[in-house]
Order: sequence, then C-alpha cells, then structure tokens
Amino acid sequence: MTCNKNKNMINKLTDICNEFNNDPDDLIGILHKAQGEFGYLPKEVQIIIAELIKIPSSKIYGVVTFYSYFTMKAKGKYPISVCMGTACYVKGAEKVLKEFEDKLKIKNGETTPDGKFSMSSLRCVGACGLAPVVSIGEKIYGSVKVEEVEKILSEY
Ligand code: FES
Repeated sequence: MTCNKNKNMINKLTDICNEFNNDPDDLIGILHKAQGEFGYLPKEVQIIIAELIKIPSSKIYGVVTFYSYFTMKAKGKYPISVCMGTACYVKGAEKVLKEFEDKLKIKNGETTPDGKFSMSSLRCVGACGLAPVVSIGEKIYGSVKVEEVEKILSEY
C-alpha cells in the first residue's frame, strides 16, 4: 500500500520535473506545481525532487522554509484562513485569529492532531466590506466576532 503511494508520488513528481526539463533553475515552479498536486511539501517530496533534478535536498529545504507560501505540513480537512488585510485587521481580525488558536489549541500555520482543522492567515481576500473575514474550506464568514468563533467551529 505504502509502496504504491510512493510509486504514485514518484511518478507524479517525475512528470512535474519533466515539464520543467528537470532544470534546477525552475525549482520554484516545480515546487509550486508539486504543492498544488499534494497540498504540501513534506520531506519525502523534497528528497524525490532533489534526486530528479540533481541538486542537494538541503537546497530545496532552504527554499521551502524561506517562502511562506510553501508549507511542509498537511492542511486539515477544514482549512481555516483568517484575513489579515488592513480592513480586517482594523476590525479585529487578530483577536478572531487568537480565538481560533485558543479554541483549537494550535498556532497559526498548524494542524490539529486529529487532522480536522488547520489555521492560516491571508492577505486581503477582496471582501473588505465583510471585514473581518474568515474562510473555512469553501465557506466564507463575514463580520466575524470573537464570540462567534465557538459556534462556527461547532458547525464542523
Ligand atoms: S482586508 Fe480582509 S477582505 Fe480585504
């Protein structure tokens, strides 16, 4: 089972790297596409890419950890994103974020141990009239108040 999963992963990554002619100069593009495919870039993915494009995996690790866009952690089943754009920030997004962190007992960027929720913050999502804005998966919540966080979570 695990073997098949790995084989699948190697095949997909081989295709992705081929698309970029296995060119190490396209590392960002490769990582971007790989994250789109798997949702995150765990160590095993980094090692396979390193072998395919023949660069040290430490270099890939450096890039993945440098850009906040890339993540090494799997997202939860219900990814929660709190908008931290100016309008949302002014309307208390920081407190809302903190409340989610407290209720879920995780920090921004982390996933709950059961894999149910993960937390992240975003820049303006273009719905400033609804500030502060929170999204959970595809669903958008507007004008979110700290007191509503518990109720929102109970929907999942
Ligand atoms: S600042 Fe949050 S939607 Fe624009």
